[in-house]
Amino acid sequence: MNKLELPNRLLMSSLHMNLDEDTRQHQRLARFYALRARMGVGLIVTAGCSPDAAGKSSPSGFALDGDSEIPRHETITRAVHRAKGRIALQILHLGRHASHAGLVSSSARRAPAIPYTPRALDEAGITATVEAYAACAGRAVTAGYDAVELCFSQGFLVHQFLAPAFNTRSDRWGGIFENRARFAVAVARAVRSRVGRDFPIIFRLPCLDLISGGLSPEESVGLVEALTPFGIDLLNVGIGCHESEVATITMSVPRAAFAGVSARLRARFPGLIFAASNRINDPRLAERLLRDGCADMIAMGRPFLADAALADKARRGAFAEINTCIACNQSCMDFIFASGDPVGCSVAPDCARPEEGRFPPLAASKRVAVAGGGIAGLGAALFLARRGARVTLFESENRLGGQLQLAARVPDKQEFVETIRYYSHAALQAGVEIRLGRAFTADDVAAEPWDHVVLATGSRPRRLDDIPGIDLPHVIDYRDVLENDRHIAFPAVIIGGGGVACDVAKYLIRRAEAGVSVTILQRSSRKLAHKVGRTTRWVLMKELEGAGVTMLKSVDVRRVTPSEVDVIDRVEGRERSIAAGAVIVAAGHLALSGPVDDLRRQGIPFTAVGASRAAEVCNTNITSALREAYEFAMAFS
Ligand SMILES: Cc1cc2nc3c(=O)[nH]c(=O)nc-3n(C[C@H](O)[C@H](O)[C@H](O)COP(=O)(O)O)c2cc1C
Ligand code: SF4
Repeated sequence: MNKLELPNRLLMSSLHMNLDEDTRQHQRLARFYALRARMGVGLIVTAGCSPDAAGKSSPSGFALDGDSEIPRHETITRAVHRAKGRIALQILHLGRHASHAGLVSSSARRAPAIPYTPRALDEAGITATVEAYAACAGRAVTAGYDAVELCFSQGFLVHQFLAPAFNTRSDRWGGIFENRARFAVAVARAVRSRVGRDFPIIFRLPCLDLISGGLSPEESVGLVEALTPFGIDLLNVGIGCHESEVATITMSVPRAAFAGVSARLRARFPGLIFAASNRINDPRLAERLLRDGCADMIAMGRPFLADAALADKARRGAFAEINTCIACNQSCMDFIFASGDPVGCSVAPDCARPEEGRFPPLAASKRVAVAGGGIAGLGAALFLARRGARVTLFESENRLGGQLQLAARVPDKQEFVETIRYYSHAALQAGVEIRLGRAFTADDVAAEPWDHVVLATGSRPRRLDDIPGIDLPHVIDYRDVLENDRHIAFPAVIIGGGGVACDVAKYLIRRAEAGVSVTILQRSSRKLAHKVGRTTRWVLMKELEGAGVTMLKSVDVRRVTPSEVDVIDRVEGRERSIAAGAVIVAAGHLALSGPVDDLRRQGIPFTAVGASRAAEVCNTNITSALREAYEFAMAFS
């Protein structure tokens, strides 16, 4: 890439880590990147880094906007170079997506979910911002970065000039494409003249932004042509942005769904090198895309959160050992929007923690039984075994995975199978003894000298026994629908309004003929599937709404009859009857506790993790199950 030689074609995409409020942000990032560098990633691109104060996510956001910042960035570059890696600084000005009052954009148009309206940059502001990009790139060279990536896509400042959806100016920076592209060209020219001909510049360009008023395919091509004179050393094919009207990174997006965009541009510009991006989560798939000529490099973002050692495992051909990113977004993208917590990974609970990848050996040998082979039990067994415990896992069924097996039956959720595969394989590799078809019973409590027992016995669906008619033959537990593909007589009514109920609705509409009637009845007044993360929920709801699923909130089910469900609609304040050929109950879960009394009698210490830890009604998901398992195992002594 320009004068930079890379050891392989894997690029770790830029990932904002939500560490803005962490005063040790640079040290933490340095460790995070160095671990991945040591494991052989060809090129790492940092989190988006602002060239000036206005472009930061918050006043303490990641930036390189003054010389005083250089030593902190050297912490990162030195750590990566010590690990024999290479790292590019991504220069990203958030524009109207910044979360502070001093934000700017091409136009004074507020971004959804941002409480502030940006100030439209005037001529002097544009000149200063272009200079800030150049100065930032110059500092990146001084700080020891191997390249810079200019983020012109993903809906941020440069994109806000490029796309008419964001740019409503009528001066020389708005209107026709040549004007809208003027800012991008000015930034490219200024940066190239600052860093010189031989320093690699990666351009992340909006190649398919999927918004109304976005760039047309011809404009994306025009942008590449306009920037080529400044030396595009690698074109990172940007797909989508926060405002995209089509899903681009959720589990519902097929793997490598957008590789064709890279392939088309690569054919159009044979002199350039391209990186394909989005939902490429398996190195074997990456290899195929390279062989098929879709791209010259493969950009992966979240897969390097799920597995820091992905590149090394790919090099060794140890594919079964890879902890695959399942595109759930629960601990990464959703954190950026919701909690403000540092970005991590649901399937790798140590991801980006200071102690990531380290499992301190136990001081003394321990014999541990894990009751339950769902994801919480598997996680606890694996993490304890990595710390040196002798672990035996009991699972009453003849397969591992528990509730996750069921979840994997929902359309677009097949990726969960990868998590079961990884944890099962890793647990065996770590020496866990797995006993399938064997529930952990009172006999087992006494059978061996356990130092500790982990109860990961999971949950069972909540029954609604107090509703008259609930035992009629056409009333079905949701598990029966997903697991046994039960025949459903429509119209179907689903009782429950959480993520599972909505997933069951999706399952039904995907399997049945178009136009079937499905109604969801939720007791509470909250929005449906309220616990499903923001980046995934809108995709699910859009599909249910598009298929005509009726969603009723604030309803109390009074009775079920052979052909109807009678409810009180608390919004309308009246009783109504809803026709039902089948009634499916998906109204939450109750914790199963395991042989607690026997353990107490025998004086064996025990800990509950996952669903079995919940007091009664449980709301566990893969994120909390694995986090609890990890935190328990790390604190165990
Ligand atoms: C938590 C998170 C933070 C991200 N931060 C950035 C960023 O700072 N700059 C950027 O250009 N893209 C950012 N992205 C987009 C990723 O670089 C990548 O394009 C996207 O995750 C799709 O690729 P993947 O399926 O390989 O993860 C971010 C994505 C996630 C999930
Ligand atoms: S939280 Fe989910 S989407 Fe994010 S990196 Fe982990 S597995 Fe992938």
